[in-house]
Amino acid sequence: MRFSFCSAALCLALAQVASAQVALAQQAADALAPEVATSGGDIQTLSAAARDALAARDAGRPVAAENWMVAAANPLAVEAGADVLRKGGTAADAMIAVQTVLGLVEPQSSGLGGGAFLVYYDARTGQLTTLDGRETAPLAATPRLFQDDAGEPLGFFDAVVGGRSVGTPGTPALLEMAHRKWGRANWGGLFNAAIALAETGFAVSPRMADSIANDADRLGRFPDTAAYFLPEGTPLKAGQVISNQPYADVLRAIAADGAAAFYTGPIAADIVRTVQGAAGNPGVLSAVDLALYQVKERPAVCASYRAFEACGMGPPSSGALTVGQILGMLGQYDLAELGADNPDSWRLIGDASRLAFADRGRYMADSDFVPMPTKGLVDGDYLADRARLLAGETALEVVEPGTPTFDHALNWADDESLEFPSTSHISIVDQYGNVLSMTTTIENGFGARLMTNGFLLNNELTDFSFRSHSDGVPIANRLEPGKRPRSSMAPTIVMRDDKPVLAIGSPGGSRIIGYVATAIVAWADWGMNVQEAISLPHAINRFGTYDLEAGTEAEALAEALTGMGFEVNPRDLNSGLHAIEIGDRLHGGADPRREGIALGE
Ligand code: GLY
Repeated sequence: MRFSFCSAALCLALAQVASAQVALAQQAADALAPEVATSGGDIQTLSAAARDALAARDAGRPVAAENWMVAAANPLAVEAGADVLRKGGTAADAMIAVQTVLGLVEPQSSGLGGGAFLVYYDARTGQLTTLDGRETAPLAATPRLFQDDAGEPLGFFDAVVGGRSVGTPGTPALLEMAHRKWGRANWGGLFNAAIALAETGFAVSPRMADSIANDADRLGRFPDTAAYFLPEGTPLKAGQVISNQPYADVLRAIAADGAAAFYTGPIAADIVRTVQGAAGNPGVLSAVDLALYQVKERPAVCASYRAFEACGMGPPSSGALTVGQILGMLGQYDLAELGADNPDSWRLIGDASRLAFADRGRYMADSDFVPMPTKGLVDGDYLADRARLLAGETALEVVEPGTPTFDHALNWADDESLEFPSTSHISIVDQYGNVLSMTTTIENGFGARLMTNGFLLNNELTDFSFRSHSDGVPIANRLEPGKRPRSSMAPTIVMRDDKPVLAIGSPGGSRIIGYVATAIVAWADWGMNVQEAISLPHAINRFGTYDLEAGTEAEALAEALTGMGFEVNPRDLNSGLHAIEIGDRLHGGADPRREGIALGE
């Protein structure tokens, strides 16, 4: 997998040319075009360090550094973050540069119109905390938002495409709160890299181009979206240089006036107009929803795994709880002794995952709205009990939710929400020892397909259950006004002796949970370095088939797993893991299934 970009240095230099910026960048792209066409990219256009990082990734070697490191899904975004870290910025500062560039060069996955969860280790205080920048349901939304007149669930894309699925975005407010809490750099300067690229132009990556080509019909439904991604009706191509002046203007406004410039005033009015005016499928998001939006700081949810604590984002995400349940059950078995090639390891992982997903479907939702057994779900005794179910030699015939200790006696029906993979993950360690793990999303690829001011709006509300009840029993993750949809995002910081040792996370819808859990197992039990753990072929079981990564050695497990009673399904498994191991030195890895790198000094 290779790709083509101008280096951050080149792009910034081009940004200083006030006139003919796009023309200059187009000349650069024209020069690259043959290689883009023949090889899928030209690594000569990356900085030397980024080229080395790319080569390391593809060879399965981690990148090493002494002081700081950043790993994310696009080299331009990584270089923007590296620039901040090199100049003494914190992990929170660097994240703002990374996120704002990702919103430009990987717009299908995350951006200002979406939401994010951030896990942060503050080296000064030794505290671990999380920020919940999840999108919220508008106050005018009802539990029947995704049901037809007969109360039956809408088709997934009938719900997604248009204004109906748009929740109040959380990412701009999260950037601001992270900077207020942990930033050292000047706020306004953190937007410069993204502004320069947006004005100068950047080369469309192969992955972005593929995503556009595969979604052209939906992107073509709304004029502003079509004009950007399908100029003159033709999908953007890899290597084509495009600019995004409206996005630069929004970033300048936020740089000058903070997140309030997004949540109130003309940008907010444009968001509301776009959502409520979406042809064929309008939504109910209002100016009041935007003005009321709040990031919530929440305690990290941690689960023990051997000598480690895997810590991450609690409700409304199911990420840390479900990853923690899987690891907590597996901790009862000696996976190191069994080894990575042993089908029995994968039986244990698969069935631990099925049991955890049964609990997830029954109990996990926004705990500000529904009582949840948050502590009970990762309680050591409860997980040891659940792990005893795995003591056989074949796949579990019956997989049902357990009965974790509740703070309140309650009964929920199982969830029926669908999640499709999009999203992006950022891991950062700065020179002060702060560690950041953030997963960021607009939900489906290109979100609701609605664009305003150069950014896409999320479809996060479709992470709620489309049904509100099952046989008269309420579903915990049903839609309610002001509630946050359950997520699978699992930004994780693994601790040992109260110190961070690994930052990791991935996109991938509800498969995120399996990607993160198995990468931690590979790293902790099977002695793999971070890059090997990320590159390990995937075998993922949520609550149905055992999905084996097509075209990889994972397919060799098919016969044994089938013999144990699993139904296997070879398919693409498109994770986007980005991880940094923190030891005497830093070691980082990026997922070869996407376009990112880890970079450090
Ligand atoms: N929309 C993806 C997630 O939150 O899990």
